[in-house]
Amino acid sequence: MPFTLVTPGVIWHTPAMREGLKTIGLVALLCASANAGPAEKTVDFAKHIQPILAKSCYRCHGEEKQEHELRLDRKADAMKGGISGKVIIPGDAKKSLLYKLITLPEESLDVMPAMGPLLNEKQKKLIKNWIDSGASWPEKKTVEKPKSETK
Ligand code: HEC
Repeated sequence: MPFTLVTPGVIWHTPAMREGLKTIGLVALLCASANAGPAEKTVDFAKHIQPILAKSCYRCHGEEKQEHELRLDRKADAMKGGISGKVIIPGDAKKSLLYKLITLPEESLDVMPAMGPLLNEKQKKLIKNWIDSGASWPEKKTVEKPKSETK
């Protein structure tokens, strides 16, 4: 996560450090983009995540219904969350209510989707990787710049 590498004010003491950090940042960035290889962390929202949400979640968290005031078919609403607050914490699937609920055991009353087949392991993994890698959600109309501060 290139955005969380540097904590301003804490590390920017000397010009040498500053240069060093720039290099580290650059290297990290290059690695991130060059590393588009094996499975890990290359989750494409439109290709991998949206279809899962559309198939299993939209009918209760979409245009027509918003159970617990949660709507998952639009970025702004999804990131805002529902009655319980944020359900997606970019960079931290384990803290994200959405991920918690899809990984509950089948017999749990809170497991999502509330009806219909649960997500399979592959789908859960995709969602985990997607959130852990920053939950990027490119929008067609208005492209939001990533905020440098999360949370
Ligand atoms: C059949 C309807 C239904 C489907 C399908 C469904 N949900 Fe839900 N969802 C609910 C209801 C109802 C609640 C309110 C809490 C409860 O009753 O368990 C809820 C609550 C939630 C919450 C908590 C919101 C908050 O702020 O409290 C999350 C997160 C969530 N659902 C995610 C999902 C995801 C992800 C999917 C798809 C994988 C999904 N849901 C599919 C009905 C559904």
